[in-house]
Amino acid sequence: MIRTLFLLSVTLFTSITASLAADELTIQQIEQRAHLPGRAAGKKPLYKEVLAGTATKEQKQELLDLYLALAKAKPAKGSQEAWQKATATLVTAAQEIVRGEVKDGSNLQAALNCKGCHAAHRPVYAIDGTLVEDAGDFGTAAPPQFVKLANISKDKLSISVYAFEPHVETSFREEEVEADGVKSVRKVPVMETVQLLRQSQISLAYVRLFDSTGKEVKGDEVWNRLKPGMTLLRQTGSKQVDPVLLKLLSPEALILAPSILPSSPAEK
Ligand code: HEC
Repeated sequence: MIRTLFLLSVTLFTSITASLAADELTIQQIEQRAHLPGRAAGKKPLYKEVLAGTATKEQKQELLDLYLALAKAKPAKGSQEAWQKATATLVTAAQEIVRGEVKDGSNLQAALNCKGCHAAHRPVYAIDGTLVEDAGDFGTAAPPQFVKLANISKDKLSISVYAFEPHVETSFREEEVEADGVKSVRKVPVMETVQLLRQSQISLAYVRLFDSTGKEVKGDEVWNRLKPGMTLLRQTGSKQVDPVLLKLLSPEALILAPSILPSSPAEK
């Protein structure tokens, strides 16, 4: 049912826009004309006619016009530079076909990276029509965690911190059930994730300290800055902290990061 509605709305759309020149179309309308099946049932999308070699001269020209318009458009997502690159190869391939310089559509086929271009440039909308942003850098590394410095060992080789860790707890809930008029009590397992406070020891050989500008704190300065009782951030992944997160921190904030970080976030 949903599928039928979708096709219907697209059909309406294409018939309205069919009279517009390629230059006046939005990217969405160009995509519908070039890459979606046509109005008549069983008809191939325009690009497929061209790829199959069954397109008329007019259809080949139409595809070229659409790609020229696409190249001039500004995508709602992704860099304009990447867009220009992706669309230039389409224009070149369609031009070769219009001019009869190629035997088949293999160049166009190669240029038509539907998935790649959509991943880079096709915006994602929520059900209410608002734009959904990519996770970006935020998705490449888990954000640091707040920890409290509990102790610094006498030999200064290790520290211990308090941190919350998720823990799955199973409990049983009693439920009254009735079968054939007889009531009985049954135990039903209930799983719940709780955050437990844990103290853990960290060997200093495995961590490095950074300030909120991403600059590394080194040597004796580490001991001037680290004080038991203070709250700091601990980054567990080996990826650098997203600079967007660093901006949210106060100038005094410190980050413990794994020593395997290739370089400090500021030197990136
Ligand atoms: C050069 C980049 C690019 C290439 C290549 C590309 N697309 Fe798209 N396509 C887009 C963008 C950008 C959108 C989103 C338009 C919008 O909603 O603003 C889109 C949207 C669409 C849509 C949705 C249209 C609508 O009604 O919302 C379809 C269907 C589609 N593309 C099919 C294809 C197919 C099939 C291919 C490969 C044969 C392809 N596209 C290749 C950029 C591209």
